[in-house]
Amino acid sequence: MTLPNGLTPDAARDKAARAYELDRAHVFHSWSAQKSLNPMTITAAQGCYVWDGDGNRLLDFSSQMVNTNIGHQHPKVVAAIQEQAATLCTIGPAFVNDARSEAARLIAERTPGELNKIFFTNGGADAVEHAVRMARLHTGRYKVLSRYRSYHGGTETAVNLTGDPRRWPNDHGNAGVVHFFGPFLYRSQFHATTEAEETERALQHLEQTIVFEGPSTIAAIILESVPGTAGIMVPPPGYLAGVRELCDRYGIVFIADEVMAGFGRTGKWFAIEHFDVVPDLITFAKGVNSGYVPLGGVAIAPHIAATFDDRPYPGGLTYSGHPLATAAAVATINAMTEERIVENAADMGERVLGPGLRELAERHPSVGEVRGLGVFWAVELVADRTTREPLAPYGGSSPAMTEAVATAKAAGLLLFVNFNRLHVVPPCTISEAEAKEGLAILDQALTVADGHTV
Ligand SMILES: Cc1ncc(COP(=O)(O)O)c(C=O)c1O
Repeated sequence: MTLPNGLTPDAARDKAARAYELDRAHVFHSWSAQKSLNPMTITAAQGCYVWDGDGNRLLDFSSQMVNTNIGHQHPKVVAAIQEQAATLCTIGPAFVNDARSEAARLIAERTPGELNKIFFTNGGADAVEHAVRMARLHTGRYKVLSRYRSYHGGTETAVNLTGDPRRWPNDHGNAGVVHFFGPFLYRSQFHATTEAEETERALQHLEQTIVFEGPSTIAAIILESVPGTAGIMVPPPGYLAGVRELCDRYGIVFIADEVMAGFGRTGKWFAIEHFDVVPDLITFAKGVNSGYVPLGGVAIAPHIAATFDDRPYPGGLTYSGHPLATAAAVATINAMTEERIVENAADMGERVLGPGLRELAERHPSVGEVRGLGVFWAVELVADRTTREPLAPYGGSSPAMTEAVATAKAAGLLLFVNFNRLHVVPPCTISEAEAKEGLAILDQALTVADGHTV
Protein backbone atom coordinates (compact mmCIF):
# COMPACT_ATOMS: atom_id res chain seq x y z
CA MET A 1 0.00 0.00 0.00
CA THR A 2 1.24 3.50 -0.75
CA LEU A 3 0.00 6.90 0.38
CA PRO A 4 -1.17 9.55 -2.15
CA ASN A 5 2.38 10.94 -2.12
CA GLY A 6 3.68 7.59 -3.46
CA LEU A 7 5.47 6.59 -0.24
CA THR A 8 4.93 3.37 1.68
CA PRO A 9 3.67 3.92 5.26
CA ASP A 10 7.11 2.95 6.62
CA ALA A 11 8.97 5.36 4.34
CA ALA A 12 6.44 8.08 5.16
CA ARG A 13 6.90 7.44 8.89
CA ASP A 14 10.69 7.76 8.64
CA LYS A 15 10.40 10.94 6.61
CA ALA A 16 7.88 12.34 9.08
CA ALA A 17 10.12 11.58 12.06
CA ARG A 18 13.03 13.43 10.42
CA ALA A 19 10.80 16.37 9.51
CA TYR A 20 9.52 16.57 13.08
CA GLU A 21 13.03 16.54 14.52
CA LEU A 22 14.16 19.34 12.20
CA ASP A 23 10.98 21.32 12.85
CA ARG A 24 11.51 21.27 16.59
CA ALA A 25 15.16 22.22 16.14
CA HIS A 26 14.75 25.02 13.63
CA VAL A 27 11.19 26.13 12.84
CA PHE A 28 9.75 29.06 14.77
CA HIS A 29 5.95 28.70 14.73
CA SER A 30 3.20 31.35 14.52
CA TRP A 31 1.27 32.59 17.56
CA SER A 32 2.85 30.04 19.91
CA ALA A 33 5.07 29.61 22.93
CA GLN A 34 7.73 27.54 21.20
CA LYS A 35 8.93 25.26 23.99
CA SER A 36 5.75 23.30 24.69
CA LEU A 37 4.69 22.85 21.06
CA ASN A 38 3.97 19.39 19.72
CA PRO A 39 2.81 20.01 16.15
CA MET A 40 1.20 17.29 14.07
CA THR A 41 3.13 16.14 11.00
CA ILE A 42 1.25 15.80 7.71
CA THR A 43 2.84 13.63 5.05
CA ALA A 44 0.16 13.59 2.37
CA ALA A 45 -3.17 15.15 1.44
CA GLN A 46 -5.86 14.40 -1.13
CA GLY A 47 -9.30 15.94 -1.56
CA CYS A 48 -10.85 16.29 1.91
CA TYR A 49 -8.31 14.02 3.66
CA VAL A 50 -4.81 14.36 5.13
CA TRP A 51 -2.41 11.69 6.44
CA ASP A 52 -0.42 12.17 9.64
CA GLY A 53 3.13 11.04 10.39
CA ASP A 54 1.93 7.64 11.59
CA GLY A 55 0.01 7.02 8.37
CA ASN A 56 -3.43 7.73 9.90
CA ARG A 57 -5.99 9.25 7.54
CA LEU A 58 -7.98 12.22 8.88
CA LEU A 59 -10.97 14.00 7.38
CA ASP A 60 -9.97 17.67 7.13
CA PHE A 61 -12.93 19.63 8.52
CA SER A 62 -10.60 22.62 8.99
CA SER A 63 -9.49 23.14 5.37
CA GLN A 64 -6.18 23.89 7.16
CA MET A 65 -6.52 27.61 7.89
CA VAL A 66 -9.93 27.60 6.18
CA ASN A 67 -8.21 27.97 2.81
CA THR A 68 -8.33 24.70 0.85
CA ASN A 69 -11.77 25.46 -0.58
CA ILE A 70 -11.10 23.29 -3.62
CA GLY A 71 -9.69 20.44 -1.49
CA HIS A 72 -6.14 19.17 -1.41
CA GLN A 73 -4.14 18.45 -4.57
CA HIS A 74 -6.84 19.30 -7.11
CA PRO A 75 -5.31 17.91 -10.33
CA LYS A 76 -6.24 20.90 -12.50
CA VAL A 77 -4.61 23.36 -10.10
CA VAL A 78 -1.52 21.19 -9.63
CA ALA A 79 -1.17 20.89 -13.43
CA ALA A 80 -1.57 24.65 -13.92
CA ILE A 81 1.20 25.37 -11.39
CA GLN A 82 3.47 22.80 -13.06
CA GLU A 83 2.76 24.25 -16.49
CA GLN A 84 3.34 27.82 -15.31
CA ALA A 85 6.58 26.78 -13.57
CA ALA A 86 7.81 25.24 -16.82
CA THR A 87 6.87 28.41 -18.76
CA LEU A 88 7.69 31.35 -16.48
CA CYS A 89 8.22 30.96 -12.73
CA THR A 90 8.45 34.62 -11.90
CA ILE A 91 8.33 38.07 -13.41
CA GLY A 92 8.28 41.51 -11.80
CA PRO A 93 4.99 43.28 -11.05
CA ALA A 94 5.63 46.13 -13.50
CA PHE A 95 5.38 43.77 -16.50
CA VAL A 96 2.25 42.39 -18.09
CA ASN A 97 1.79 38.67 -17.51
CA ASP A 98 -0.99 36.51 -18.94
CA ALA A 99 -1.66 34.55 -15.72
CA ARG A 100 -1.99 37.77 -13.73
CA SER A 101 -4.20 39.46 -16.34
CA GLU A 102 -6.55 36.49 -16.58
CA ALA A 103 -6.75 36.01 -12.81
CA ALA A 104 -7.68 39.70 -12.43
CA ARG A 105 -10.39 39.34 -15.09
CA LEU A 106 -11.87 36.22 -13.48
CA ILE A 107 -11.93 37.79 -10.02
CA ALA A 108 -13.40 41.08 -11.28
CA GLU A 109 -16.10 39.11 -13.12
CA ARG A 110 -17.19 37.56 -9.83
CA THR A 111 -17.06 40.55 -7.46
CA PRO A 112 -20.35 42.35 -6.81
CA GLY A 113 -20.98 45.77 -8.38
CA GLU A 114 -18.17 47.26 -10.37
CA LEU A 115 -15.18 46.29 -8.27
CA ASN A 116 -13.16 45.48 -11.33
CA LYS A 117 -9.61 46.57 -10.60
CA ILE A 118 -7.49 44.07 -8.69
CA PHE A 119 -4.36 44.80 -6.67
CA PHE A 120 -2.57 41.53 -5.87
CA THR A 121 -0.78 40.85 -2.59
CA ASN A 122 0.87 37.76 -1.07
CA GLY A 123 -1.89 37.00 1.43
CA GLY A 124 -4.76 38.35 3.51
CA ALA A 125 -3.01 40.62 6.01
CA ASP A 126 -1.21 42.62 3.34
CA ALA A 127 -4.48 42.89 1.41
CA VAL A 128 -6.00 44.49 4.51
CA GLU A 129 -2.98 46.81 4.92
CA HIS A 130 -3.36 48.01 1.33
CA ALA A 131 -7.15 48.37 1.48
CA VAL A 132 -6.77 50.60 4.53
CA ARG A 133 -4.00 52.59 2.83
CA MET A 134 -6.21 53.14 -0.21
CA ALA A 135 -9.11 54.24 1.98
CA ARG A 136 -6.92 56.66 3.94
CA LEU A 137 -5.46 58.24 0.81
CA HIS A 138 -8.87 58.37 -0.91
CA THR A 139 -10.59 60.13 2.00
CA GLY A 140 -7.67 62.07 3.46
CA ARG A 141 -8.77 60.72 6.87
CA TYR A 142 -6.93 58.35 9.21
CA LYS A 143 -9.17 56.45 11.64
CA VAL A 144 -10.54 53.01 10.82
CA LEU A 145 -13.44 51.33 12.61
CA SER A 146 -13.56 47.57 13.07
CA ARG A 147 -15.54 45.23 15.28
CA TYR A 148 -14.68 43.27 18.37
CA ARG A 149 -14.82 39.55 17.56
CA SER A 150 -12.95 39.81 14.28
CA TYR A 151 -9.65 38.80 12.68
CA HIS A 152 -7.94 40.80 9.95
CA GLY A 153 -4.36 39.48 9.90
CA GLY A 154 -1.02 39.48 11.67
CA THR A 155 0.74 42.57 10.27
CA GLU A 156 0.82 45.92 12.04
CA THR A 157 -2.39 47.63 10.92
CA ALA A 158 -4.24 44.35 10.35
CA VAL A 159 -3.52 43.00 13.82
CA ASN A 160 -4.55 46.30 15.36
CA LEU A 161 -7.84 46.15 13.45
CA THR A 162 -8.33 42.62 14.75
CA GLY A 163 -10.89 42.25 17.51
CA ASP A 164 -9.45 39.23 19.33
CA PRO A 165 -6.74 38.71 21.95
CA ARG A 166 -4.00 38.42 19.35
CA ARG A 167 -4.18 42.20 19.10
CA TRP A 168 -3.39 42.85 22.76
CA PRO A 169 0.40 42.36 22.75
CA ASN A 170 0.67 44.25 19.44
CA ASP A 171 -1.49 47.23 20.32
CA HIS A 172 0.32 50.42 21.24
CA GLY A 173 -2.75 52.58 20.79
CA ASN A 174 -1.34 54.47 17.80
CA ALA A 175 -2.89 52.62 14.86
CA GLY A 176 -5.89 54.93 14.43
CA VAL A 177 -8.24 52.01 15.06
CA VAL A 178 -11.51 52.23 16.97
CA HIS A 179 -13.41 49.06 17.84
CA PHE A 180 -17.18 48.71 18.10
CA PHE A 181 -19.57 45.82 18.75
CA GLY A 182 -21.12 44.08 15.79
CA PRO A 183 -24.30 42.02 15.85
CA PHE A 184 -24.18 38.63 17.60
CA LEU A 185 -27.62 37.75 18.90
CA TYR A 186 -26.56 34.70 20.94
CA ARG A 187 -24.29 36.93 23.03
CA SER A 188 -26.00 40.24 22.35
CA GLN A 189 -24.30 43.37 23.67
CA PHE A 190 -27.57 45.19 23.08
CA HIS A 191 -29.95 43.11 25.23
CA ALA A 192 -31.74 42.19 22.02
CA THR A 193 -34.04 39.19 21.80
CA THR A 194 -34.76 39.22 18.06
CA GLU A 195 -32.63 39.63 14.95
CA ALA A 196 -34.52 42.81 14.07
CA GLU A 197 -33.68 44.34 17.46
CA GLU A 198 -30.04 43.25 17.16
CA THR A 199 -29.75 44.88 13.73
CA GLU A 200 -31.40 48.12 14.80
CA ARG A 201 -29.43 48.47 18.03
CA ALA A 202 -26.07 47.41 16.53
CA LEU A 203 -26.54 50.06 13.83
CA GLN A 204 -27.48 52.71 16.41
CA HIS A 205 -24.34 51.81 18.36
CA LEU A 206 -22.20 52.06 15.20
CA GLU A 207 -23.68 55.42 14.30
CA GLN A 208 -23.07 56.73 17.81
CA THR A 209 -19.47 55.54 17.56
CA ILE A 210 -19.07 57.40 14.26
CA VAL A 211 -20.64 60.58 15.65
CA PHE A 212 -18.55 60.56 18.83
CA GLU A 213 -15.29 59.70 17.04
CA GLY A 214 -15.94 62.47 14.51
CA PRO A 215 -17.13 61.46 11.03
CA SER A 216 -14.56 63.74 9.38
CA THR A 217 -11.76 61.67 10.95
CA ILE A 218 -12.94 58.23 9.79
CA ALA A 219 -11.49 56.77 6.59
CA ALA A 220 -13.04 53.30 6.64
CA ILE A 221 -15.16 50.71 8.33
CA ILE A 222 -13.76 47.22 7.82
CA LEU A 223 -15.94 44.19 8.48
CA GLU A 224 -15.68 40.53 7.64
CA SER A 225 -18.90 39.95 5.64
CA VAL A 226 -19.35 36.89 7.86
CA PRO A 227 -16.82 36.98 10.71
CA GLY A 228 -14.81 33.74 10.54
CA THR A 229 -12.26 32.85 13.21
CA ALA A 230 -14.18 34.98 15.72
CA GLY A 231 -17.23 32.73 15.48
CA ILE A 232 -19.03 32.64 12.09
CA MET A 233 -21.73 35.07 13.19
CA VAL A 234 -23.89 35.51 10.07
CA PRO A 235 -25.06 39.15 10.21
CA PRO A 236 -28.81 39.52 10.75
CA PRO A 237 -30.92 40.86 7.86
CA GLY A 238 -30.42 44.55 7.22
CA TYR A 239 -27.18 44.96 9.17
CA LEU A 240 -24.69 45.19 6.30
CA ALA A 241 -27.13 47.30 4.27
CA GLY A 242 -27.30 49.63 7.28
CA VAL A 243 -23.49 49.81 7.44
CA ARG A 244 -23.43 50.67 3.73
CA GLU A 245 -25.94 53.45 4.35
CA LEU A 246 -23.91 54.88 7.26
CA CYS A 247 -20.75 54.79 5.13
CA ASP A 248 -22.53 56.68 2.36
CA ARG A 249 -23.98 59.22 4.78
CA TYR A 250 -20.63 60.00 6.42
CA GLY A 251 -18.31 59.62 3.41
CA ILE A 252 -16.62 56.52 4.86
CA VAL A 253 -15.09 53.73 2.74
CA PHE A 254 -16.70 50.31 3.32
CA ILE A 255 -14.11 47.51 3.24
CA ALA A 256 -15.51 43.96 3.19
CA ASP A 257 -12.87 41.51 4.37
CA GLU A 258 -13.61 38.30 2.45
CA VAL A 259 -10.26 36.64 3.10
CA MET A 260 -11.95 33.71 4.85
CA ALA A 261 -15.59 34.04 3.75
CA GLY A 262 -14.88 34.56 0.04
CA PHE A 263 -14.48 32.19 -2.88
CA GLY A 264 -17.28 29.75 -2.21
CA ARG A 265 -17.05 29.22 1.53
CA THR A 266 -20.59 30.49 2.25
CA GLY A 267 -22.08 28.96 -0.91
CA LYS A 268 -21.58 32.13 -2.99
CA TRP A 269 -18.43 33.50 -4.59
CA PHE A 270 -18.42 36.34 -2.05
CA ALA A 271 -20.31 36.20 1.26
CA ILE A 272 -21.53 39.77 0.88
CA GLU A 273 -23.72 38.62 -2.03
CA HIS A 274 -26.05 37.03 0.56
CA PHE A 275 -26.88 40.55 1.75
CA ASP A 276 -27.20 42.38 -1.56
CA VAL A 277 -24.64 44.99 -0.57
CA VAL A 278 -21.76 46.36 -2.62
CA PRO A 279 -18.72 47.50 -0.61
CA ASP A 280 -16.06 49.91 -1.91
CA LEU A 281 -13.16 47.49 -1.42
CA ILE A 282 -13.01 43.72 -0.97
CA THR A 283 -9.99 41.99 0.50
CA PHE A 284 -9.49 38.35 -0.49
CA ALA A 285 -6.86 35.57 -0.19
CA LYS A 286 -7.14 31.89 0.90
CA GLY A 287 -9.85 30.41 -1.35
CA VAL A 288 -8.83 32.49 -4.40
CA ASN A 289 -6.38 29.65 -5.21
CA SER A 290 -6.91 27.54 -2.08
CA GLY A 291 -3.47 28.61 -0.86
CA TYR A 292 -1.61 26.30 -3.26
CA VAL A 293 0.70 29.28 -3.80
CA PRO A 294 0.39 32.33 -1.49
CA LEU A 295 -1.95 34.98 -2.96
CA GLY A 296 -4.25 37.72 -1.77
CA GLY A 297 -5.55 40.99 -3.07
CA VAL A 298 -7.91 43.94 -3.03
CA ALA A 299 -10.81 44.40 -5.44
CA ILE A 300 -11.32 48.12 -5.97
CA ALA A 301 -14.40 50.16 -6.89
CA PRO A 302 -13.95 52.67 -9.75
CA HIS A 303 -14.23 55.81 -7.59
CA ILE A 304 -11.37 54.63 -5.37
CA ALA A 305 -9.26 53.38 -8.27
CA ALA A 306 -9.75 56.84 -9.87
CA THR A 307 -7.99 58.47 -6.90
CA PHE A 308 -4.84 56.91 -8.28
CA ASP A 309 -5.41 57.72 -11.96
CA ASP A 310 -2.95 60.62 -11.96
CA ARG A 311 -1.43 60.29 -8.53
CA PRO A 312 0.85 57.30 -7.92
CA TYR A 313 -0.39 54.66 -5.52
CA PRO A 314 2.29 54.57 -2.83
CA GLY A 315 2.55 50.82 -2.30
CA GLY A 316 3.70 47.61 -3.95
CA LEU A 317 5.24 44.18 -3.57
CA THR A 318 7.99 42.30 -5.41
CA TYR A 319 5.59 39.39 -5.85
CA SER A 320 2.37 41.33 -6.63
CA GLY A 321 0.48 39.08 -9.05
CA HIS A 322 3.14 36.35 -8.98
CA PRO A 323 2.70 34.10 -12.05
CA LEU A 324 2.65 30.80 -10.10
CA ALA A 325 0.06 32.16 -7.66
CA THR A 326 -2.14 33.76 -10.30
CA ALA A 327 -1.93 30.73 -12.61
CA ALA A 328 -3.15 28.69 -9.62
CA ALA A 329 -5.99 31.22 -9.17
CA VAL A 330 -7.03 30.95 -12.82
CA ALA A 331 -7.13 27.15 -12.61
CA THR A 332 -8.92 27.22 -9.24
CA ILE A 333 -11.63 29.66 -10.34
CA ASN A 334 -12.16 27.83 -13.63
CA ALA A 335 -12.36 24.42 -11.92
CA MET A 336 -14.72 25.79 -9.25
CA THR A 337 -16.95 27.13 -12.03
CA GLU A 338 -16.86 24.03 -14.27
CA GLU A 339 -17.35 21.60 -11.39
CA ARG A 340 -20.02 23.74 -9.69
CA ILE A 341 -18.03 23.72 -6.45
CA VAL A 342 -19.61 26.89 -5.05
CA GLU A 343 -23.05 25.38 -5.70
CA ASN A 344 -21.89 22.22 -3.92
CA ALA A 345 -20.89 24.25 -0.86
CA ALA A 346 -24.36 25.84 -0.77
CA ASP A 347 -26.07 22.48 -1.22
CA MET A 348 -23.99 20.72 1.46
CA GLY A 349 -24.80 23.53 3.90
CA GLU A 350 -28.52 23.48 3.22
CA ARG A 351 -29.08 19.75 2.93
CA VAL A 352 -26.44 18.05 5.09
CA LEU A 353 -24.30 20.21 7.39
CA GLY A 354 -26.98 22.66 8.58
CA PRO A 355 -29.63 20.01 9.36
CA GLY A 356 -26.98 17.59 10.70
CA LEU A 357 -25.50 20.16 13.07
CA ARG A 358 -28.92 21.30 14.27
CA GLU A 359 -29.77 17.70 15.02
CA LEU A 360 -26.55 17.33 17.05
CA ALA A 361 -27.37 20.56 18.90
CA GLU A 362 -30.72 19.12 19.97
CA ARG A 363 -29.11 16.01 21.44
CA HIS A 364 -26.00 17.47 23.07
CA PRO A 365 -26.37 19.76 26.10
CA SER A 366 -22.84 21.11 25.49
CA VAL A 367 -23.99 22.82 22.28
CA GLY A 368 -25.27 26.33 22.94
CA GLU A 369 -25.77 27.26 19.30
CA VAL A 370 -24.85 26.18 15.78
CA ARG A 371 -24.75 28.80 13.05
CA GLY A 372 -23.39 29.25 9.56
CA LEU A 373 -23.86 29.05 5.82
CA GLY A 374 -22.47 26.81 3.09
CA VAL A 375 -19.39 25.02 4.45
CA PHE A 376 -18.81 27.67 7.12
CA TRP A 377 -20.27 26.58 10.49
CA ALA A 378 -19.53 27.21 14.15
CA VAL A 379 -20.56 24.95 17.01
CA GLU A 380 -20.60 27.09 20.15
CA LEU A 381 -19.95 24.94 23.22
CA VAL A 382 -21.22 25.91 26.66
CA ALA A 383 -20.83 24.55 30.17
CA ASP A 384 -24.39 25.60 30.92
CA ARG A 385 -27.08 26.15 28.32
CA THR A 386 -29.12 28.40 30.61
CA THR A 387 -26.37 30.87 31.49
CA ARG A 388 -24.53 30.30 28.16
CA GLU A 389 -21.24 30.12 30.06
CA PRO A 390 -18.66 29.22 27.40
CA LEU A 391 -16.90 25.82 27.68
CA ALA A 392 -13.58 27.71 27.52
CA PRO A 393 -12.98 31.33 28.51
CA TYR A 394 -12.65 34.09 25.90
CA GLY A 395 -9.06 33.96 24.64
CA GLY A 396 -8.32 30.61 26.29
CA SER A 397 -8.83 26.86 26.23
CA SER A 398 -10.06 24.33 28.77
CA PRO A 399 -9.63 20.61 29.51
CA ALA A 400 -13.15 20.06 28.14
CA MET A 401 -12.29 21.60 24.77
CA THR A 402 -8.94 19.81 24.62
CA GLU A 403 -10.61 16.45 25.31
CA ALA A 404 -13.35 17.00 22.74
CA VAL A 405 -10.84 17.94 20.04
CA ALA A 406 -8.54 15.02 20.91
CA THR A 407 -11.52 12.64 20.70
CA ALA A 408 -12.35 13.89 17.22
CA LYS A 409 -8.73 13.59 16.13
CA ALA A 410 -8.33 10.06 17.50
CA ALA A 411 -11.44 9.08 15.54
CA GLY A 412 -10.07 10.63 12.33
CA LEU A 413 -11.44 14.19 12.22
CA LEU A 414 -9.49 17.46 12.09
CA LEU A 415 -11.48 20.46 13.35
CA PHE A 416 -10.77 24.19 13.42
CA VAL A 417 -10.87 25.28 17.07
CA ASN A 418 -11.15 28.73 18.61
CA PHE A 419 -11.68 29.17 22.38
CA ASN A 420 -15.07 27.50 23.10
CA ARG A 421 -15.97 26.81 19.48
CA LEU A 422 -15.50 23.97 17.03
CA HIS A 423 -15.67 25.15 13.44
CA VAL A 424 -16.95 22.84 10.74
CA VAL A 425 -15.22 24.29 7.70
CA PRO A 426 -14.43 21.49 5.24
CA PRO A 427 -13.43 22.07 1.61
CA CYS A 428 -16.27 23.30 -0.65
CA THR A 429 -15.82 20.05 -2.59
CA ILE A 430 -16.99 17.85 0.29
CA SER A 431 -19.36 15.03 -0.64
CA GLU A 432 -22.49 14.08 1.26
CA ALA A 433 -20.85 10.84 2.49
CA GLU A 434 -17.77 12.72 3.76
CA ALA A 435 -19.92 15.35 5.48
CA LYS A 436 -21.90 12.60 7.23
CA GLU A 437 -18.70 10.79 8.22
CA GLY A 438 -17.45 13.99 9.87
CA LEU A 439 -20.76 14.67 11.62
CA ALA A 440 -20.74 11.13 13.07
CA ILE A 441 -17.28 11.71 14.57
CA LEU A 442 -18.32 15.14 15.82
CA ASP A 443 -21.20 13.39 17.60
CA GLN A 444 -18.61 11.36 19.60
CA ALA A 445 -16.58 14.49 20.43
CA LEU A 446 -19.71 16.29 21.65
CA THR A 447 -20.55 13.37 23.94
CA VAL A 448 -17.19 13.98 25.61
CA ALA A 449 -17.96 17.71 25.87
CA ASP A 450 -21.37 16.89 27.39
CA GLY A 451 -19.51 15.31 30.31
CA HIS A 452 -18.25 18.78 31.23
CA THR A 453 -21.64 20.48 31.41
CA VAL A 454 -23.50 21.24 34.62
C1 LIG B 1 -10.92 37.58 7.62
C2 LIG B 1 -9.43 37.46 7.55
N1 LIG B 1 -8.71 38.53 7.16
C3 LIG B 1 -7.37 38.48 7.05
C4 LIG B 1 -6.68 37.33 7.35
C5 LIG B 1 -5.17 37.28 7.22
O1 LIG B 1 -4.81 36.51 6.16
P1 LIG B 1 -3.29 35.94 6.03
O2 LIG B 1 -3.12 34.95 7.16
O3 LIG B 1 -3.25 35.35 4.67
O4 LIG B 1 -2.38 37.11 6.16
C6 LIG B 1 -7.38 36.19 7.75
C7 LIG B 1 -6.68 34.93 8.09
O5 LIG B 1 -7.22 34.02 8.68
C8 LIG B 1 -8.79 36.27 7.86
O6 LIG B 1 -9.53 35.21 8.26
